[in-house]
Amino acid sequence: MQSAQISFENIRKDFPILERTIRENKTLVYLDNASTTQKPNQVIDAINDYYRNHNANIHRAVYALAEEATELYEKTRDKIATFINVSNREEIIFVRGTTEAINLVAYSWGRAHLKEGDIIVTTEYEHHSNIVPWQLLTQEKHAKLEYIGMDDDGELILDDLDKYLATGKVKLVTFSLMSNVLGTISDTEKIISKCKEAGVLTLIDGAQAVPHMKVDVEKLGCDFFAFSGHKMLGPTGIGALWVRKSVLNTMTPFHGGGDMIREVHKYETTWNDLPYKFEAGTPNIADVVGLGAAIDYLLKIGMDNIRQHEVELTSYAMEKLSEVKGLHIYGTKDISKRGGVISFNFADVHPHDVAQIIDEEGIAIRSGHHCAQVLMDRLNVAATSRASFYIYNTKEEIDKLINSLNKVARIFKL
Ligand code: ALA
Repeated sequence: MQSAQISFENIRKDFPILERTIRENKTLVYLDNASTTQKPNQVIDAINDYYRNHNANIHRAVYALAEEATELYEKTRDKIATFINVSNREEIIFVRGTTEAINLVAYSWGRAHLKEGDIIVTTEYEHHSNIVPWQLLTQEKHAKLEYIGMDDDGELILDDLDKYLATGKVKLVTFSLMSNVLGTISDTEKIISKCKEAGVLTLIDGAQAVPHMKVDVEKLGCDFFAFSGHKMLGPTGIGALWVRKSVLNTMTPFHGGGDMIREVHKYETTWNDLPYKFEAGTPNIADVVGLGAAIDYLLKIGMDNIRQHEVELTSYAMEKLSEVKGLHIYGTKDISKRGGVISFNFADVHPHDVAQIIDEEGIAIRSGHHCAQVLMDRLNVAATSRASFYIYNTKEEIDKLINSLNKVARIFKL
């Protein structure tokens, strides 16, 4: 589908929440999409339909309803395989989200493979979910956690990676495809080729990238890939982890319980086939179904069209924001290297004050450390304001944001 054929204005009609008013009849302007996205009727209806017509537990019973539920659940696994381009559905594990995916890897791979003195490498612009699990693991194993630094344009300093790889002690390099604060798109090709050359595994946190651009995991060549449903129009509490089978086969289970076993005896247990070995207990079936509907919705629009729409919005916003008095934007100005996430600050005005003032106009942006305090330290700030866009956002909404930020500048006499 060509971009010209997509009416992004019509897309808004699929999102009931965008019709509501907020704060004394102000139209909602939702610009906190890096945090979570709104849900179209298609996703809401799929969850509703599941509970009204198909609800049963999966993988257990032989009656028709249970078979229907199982089929709906497993269909989403196939949709994910197509969506991120992986050929083996057994390598896709349903998890609660990116955070759980990374914790699963740290637990099941890390505890099996990491030894004293080994190194895990992450980056200065990671979300806490790609830092804290590695701190826990390296502390437990007496291993080391090292960071690829970031330059003043918000891009990773890959010389740091070279330095760590040269030690011969790195076991895993883990990084986000797109920063949740700066929108920087990592130079994945370079990072992965360096790691491959050194025989080091790579994990990509795809939470901020998968909703916004075409992601081809096979082409990326990483070993672990994680993303969340709720940042791509799907429900909260559901996401996926992909692990290359040769690596997955070396990992021990994460949770023990029903469905992940083949046989349980008093003192020993054998494991179910992949991927079920990693999916203990009754899963979040309805939200898996909802995630499937979100994938259908995104594919219908086309990921290249979505990226193009966001490039247009981001260029427009960057240009307008740079005209607001006293406002400083973080990260690269090169739109081809960033997604639709813009963090900024007004001199010494606290981001919470900014967010509160513009909330009076019905505009929702996030303020705070964005679960990235290592990055805040690197930027030498306690917090930033952040506007982040998605398919339903428009230039008119960006104009409203700019007007309200000009109001902030006036209030604080900037
Ligand atoms: N990861 C989410 C954010 O960046 C919560 O806001």
